[in-house]
Amino acid sequence: MIVRRERPGDEAAIHAVHTAAFSSAPRSSGLTGSGEVAEAWLADRLRDTGALPALSLVAVIDGAVAGHVVGSRGTLAGQPSVGLGPIGVLPYRQRDGIGSALMHAVIGAADALDEPAVFLLGSPDYYGRFGFVLAVPLGLEPPDASWGEHFQVRTLRAWDPFVRGAFAYAAAFDEIRGA
Ligand SMILES: CC(C)(COP(=O)(O)OP(=O)(O)OC[C@H]1O[C@@H](n2cnc3c(N)ncnc32)[C@H](O)[C@@H]1OP(=O)(O)O)[C@@H](O)C(=O)NCCC(=O)NCCS
Repeated sequence: MIVRRERPGDEAAIHAVHTAAFSSAPRSSGLTGSGEVAEAWLADRLRDTGALPALSLVAVIDGAVAGHVVGSRGTLAGQPSVGLGPIGVLPYRQRDGIGSALMHAVIGAADALDEPAVFLLGSPDYYGRFGFVLAVPLGLEPPDASWGEHFQVRTLRAWDPFVRGAFAYAAAFDEIRGA
């Protein structure tokens, strides 16, 4: 397996990865109004609006895309920060370290870009192993208060520990409802 940045020509394979990954996932956002798996739609939409190109990474096995993760421009208390997701791995390739490789790579890339932190919504059981902790106890509020038990942050080298406030994802995350 190699992990590399997304490049032109990967779009359809990335869409297919998220369609397959989230069709069978318990925490999928469901389908858009046009019948697409929401996370596959979101990966496409972020490419045009908000994705940080250096944080759109694919895992490639035998020349084929098996997993993808993307970080996009969000804000914390009005200052730039990173929102992570979607992350997906082809179902038959899951539990073989691909998701972990993508996570380590995207966190390292965000740190190298001097981003202060990466935020995500997900299972603390899974993301805790990458250094994510619950955000709310640090005074970092999710866009929706009901997300508190799953809203997590991984702080990076550029993090200011005195920062408090609300995190906002790129607009594409809100557009899912109307897509
Ligand atoms: C989540 C996902 C990206 C992980 O990729 P992966 O390649 O299977 O991950 P890895 O092989 O590196 O790690 C597998 C480990 O993560 C655990 N894991 C995977 N998803 C988990 C979850 N939602 N909650 C808790 N643990 C999870 C597995 O149990 C496994 O643990 P183990 O090694 O102790 O048995 C992949 O399972 C996936 O695409 N899922 C469907 C889409 C999804 O739910 N994305 C995340 C939304 S927040």
